[in-house]
Amino acid sequence: MCGIVAYIGKKEAYPIIVKGLKRLEYRGYDSAGVALLHGNDLNLYKRQGKVANLEAFTEDKDRLGHAGIGHTRWATHGEPNDINAHPHYNEDRTMALIHNGIIENYDVLRTELIKLGYQFRSETDTEALVHLIDHIQKKENVSLAEAVRLALLNVVGAYAIVVISKENPNQLVAARKSSPLVVGIGKEDDFYLASDATPIIEYTNNVVYLEDEEIAVVDLQEGLKIFNINNQEKTPYVQQLEMELEALEKGGYEHFMLKEIHEQPRSINDCFRGRLNAQEGWVSLGGVKEYEQKMINAQRIVMIACGTSWHACLVGEYLFEDLARIVVEVEYASEFRYRNPIIGENDIVIAVSQSGETADTLAALELAKSKGATILGICNVVGSSISRITDAGSYTHAGPEIGVASTKAFTAQVTVLTLMALSLAHKKGTISESKYHTMLSELEAIPAKVSKVLESNALIEKIAEEYKNCSNALYLGRGSSFPVALEGALKLKEISYIHAEGYPAAEMKHGPIALIDEEMPVFVIATKGTSYEKVVSNIQEVKARKGKIIAIVTEGDVQVKAMADHIIEIPDTDEHLVPLLATIPLQLLSYHIAVMRGCNVDQPRNLAKSVTVE
Ligand code: G6P
Repeated sequence: MCGIVAYIGKKEAYPIIVKGLKRLEYRGYDSAGVALLHGNDLNLYKRQGKVANLEAFTEDKDRLGHAGIGHTRWATHGEPNDINAHPHYNEDRTMALIHNGIIENYDVLRTELIKLGYQFRSETDTEALVHLIDHIQKKENVSLAEAVRLALLNVVGAYAIVVISKENPNQLVAARKSSPLVVGIGKEDDFYLASDATPIIEYTNNVVYLEDEEIAVVDLQEGLKIFNINNQEKTPYVQQLEMELEALEKGGYEHFMLKEIHEQPRSINDCFRGRLNAQEGWVSLGGVKEYEQKMINAQRIVMIACGTSWHACLVGEYLFEDLARIVVEVEYASEFRYRNPIIGENDIVIAVSQSGETADTLAALELAKSKGATILGICNVVGSSISRITDAGSYTHAGPEIGVASTKAFTAQVTVLTLMALSLAHKKGTISESKYHTMLSELEAIPAKVSKVLESNALIEKIAEEYKNCSNALYLGRGSSFPVALEGALKLKEISYIHAEGYPAAEMKHGPIALIDEEMPVFVIATKGTSYEKVVSNIQEVKARKGKIIAIVTEGDVQVKAMADHIIEIPDTDEHLVPLLATIPLQLLSYHIAVMRGCNVDQPRNLAKSVTVE
């Protein structure tokens, strides 16, 4: 993972880099560091922990300079300490490098470089690269950019790098393969480089997303030049970003997660915009329209994802199968890619990813593409790698999600999948006209109903108070509420470090029931619908063993209310749309429990938002 930021121009680099690193902390926060070029000094400061530690450490140091690079780390090779933090110097400290990714053959490179007399200070894979560039530049007597290119020809793995050098004070050299990198073209003949556009947007809307195996040189005299690894010059494709700065701020909320939970009425609405009109009776996803017939004809659709996005796919499976009668298989991207999956030209693979950068999802898609499948994407981050390699796709339009635990991105993913399923079902004729129109209206009413659910915040906070000290929790649901149970359990695990498991309600009796005692809270999605009576029986089984029941029920429910320890009501809706509402109380519950336990809600330990390593 890791986040990288760099600047070169007329402004002071340090404040830009530090602000950018804070925006990228979601990518990792094990350590942070900067290297700044000031006159003839290349000053390098780095510290274990968050960017704030780095700031405190550098307070009395020389932080001046108009060119600099910065890094926030999610440790892979070498423990998170000051020495392993980036940037890394070359031997004579004339050059420094930041890296996001993994150099898989670093051991071989390291051994060779040690033989050549290089001394390694850290345990990182990255240090091998800076020494290799240094070695090539000296041996071949070539420019910095050429040395970077030649070095990268020897590298196996993933990288987004930026190199700064005393000998080239007017330029930065960057390159990427499998890890993202964006170049911002400033308004004052200056340049910004970052893992995503969030550190850049404040200064410029003009960006260039580097492609795999491209090397970018930003030079104060010569401007931006891009080459591929075979040394062919490329014309930079400049895009205009539409992101708003306020979307990156907390807007009065204590945490990004809370803000993002509360944004859901709007983010779901944004997801509908121009795609759904219940009054006129249509739904249309422009991005994938030309692939709809292919989806209908496909032998099956494979959905691939990781983490929360995988849960969204599971909801998608219920929707596609029930409404459009299309066979769907949901796969963990990491398993799919190494399983020699049977996949061919008649298959459609849909990748679902908030970041659009998850390494396993990206690799699984590439595999499917190589086997001839049509590949589609559902991503949140515009211009992300997945959105660029897919044949077509639909953005979720949830806006930037900063909290590491995914909330609004999940409901937006489910919304897009619902729109897709409805559109396909209508086209295929597997849904009656009346059901189709009712569902469109129900869907349009969802944002207002989400707002209603959010009004239960105070009640949910009280429930959180009661269970904040539990060590385990069970989440149960059936049908498309089963993925909601999985997602609820994941949210609790991720941010409050309480062990939690999600189960299909009926599976409880095949194992988890053994865990139930008076200490065990069981969160059940027990809304009205096909399996309601069955879930009621499951609740009774829990109560018979003195477990605590916290049930999410449809407004006005009496049966579950009579049995449960607590109920949280959600407005009535079509059964297919329940995940969009039932997820919200579980997000709030995890949030409050985590806050009460003193956890870092937005940046939980050991996690990162964008997992660009395997
Ligand atoms: C990480 C994040 C999760 C996310 C998962 C998949 O584990 O912490 O919140 O669900 O990656 O990420 P993606 O960007 O592909 O949806």
